[in-house]
Amino acid sequence: LRRGTLPLDLTGRNVLISAGGTREAIDPVRFIGNHSSGRQGYALAATAVARGANVTLISANVGFSGPAGVDVRPVTSALELRAAMLHERDKADIVVMAAAVADFRPDTAAVNKIKKTGDTPTPIALVENPDILLELSRHRGGVSPQNQIVVGFAAETDNVVENGRAKLARKGCDLLVVNQVGQGRAFGTTENQASVLAVDGTVTEIEHAPKEDVADRIWDLVVERLPA
Ligand code: CTP
Ligand code: CA
Repeated sequence: LRRGTLPLDLTGRNVLISAGGTREAIDPVRFIGNHSSGRQGYALAATAVARGANVTLISANVGFSGPAGVDVRPVTSALELRAAMLHERDKADIVVMAAAVADFRPDTAAVNKIKKTGDTPTPIALVENPDILLELSRHRGGVSPQNQIVVGFAAETDNVVENGRAKLARKGCDLLVVNQVGQGRAFGTTENQASVLAVDGTVTEIEHAPKEDVADRIWDLVVERLPA
């Protein structure tokens, strides 16, 4: 990382980042969750601050404290994360969906703890969560909605670029940061590696590196696309 020498090229820009992984309540003591640590999202927040941005971080169940100078707003579920993102997006010049959002949530969360009965357990009915990135991409906000930049993330186990291309097109964001996962990669580790796909057709490979360095490279790609 260009430690200590980061350019202040995000000065005056309002950045909105989601990080972590959502939890969908099954009952008061249980949830459906995922392995996202929040480290890449937090690294993006810290690096954006270092480059001069005003950063709001919508943080879903992250087990460590936020970087200095960042406005951290904790949320739990996908619906809470969505409400927070939609509330903040009108102030943002750049929106980054680094959080792992549960695709499904239990249709209803039991009011009381579910008990064993000795019978076959009742299946948990699931409903699909709204696609927050799709909503953010479709209805841009900010001071200048046509210039707002929206960045998505994707974790793929195979056919990374091919699957990423299809996902970028489907989501309608400007950049999609695709991580290859599986075999101990990405989740919970302090290092990462990514292919960044842009709506203009370019692919940028980011070498295996600490998540701060990966974040710095992602900001380079965002800065290139900012209006003057
Ligand atoms: N995402 C979102 N809302 C959802 C699901 C995902 O905003 N309900 C965002 C994630 O934060 C990420 C991007 O969409 O930035 C891609 O997430 P991913 O899980 O890879 O995509 P999905 O559309 O859910 O497709 P898949 O079936 O591969 O999980
Ligand atoms: Ca998903």
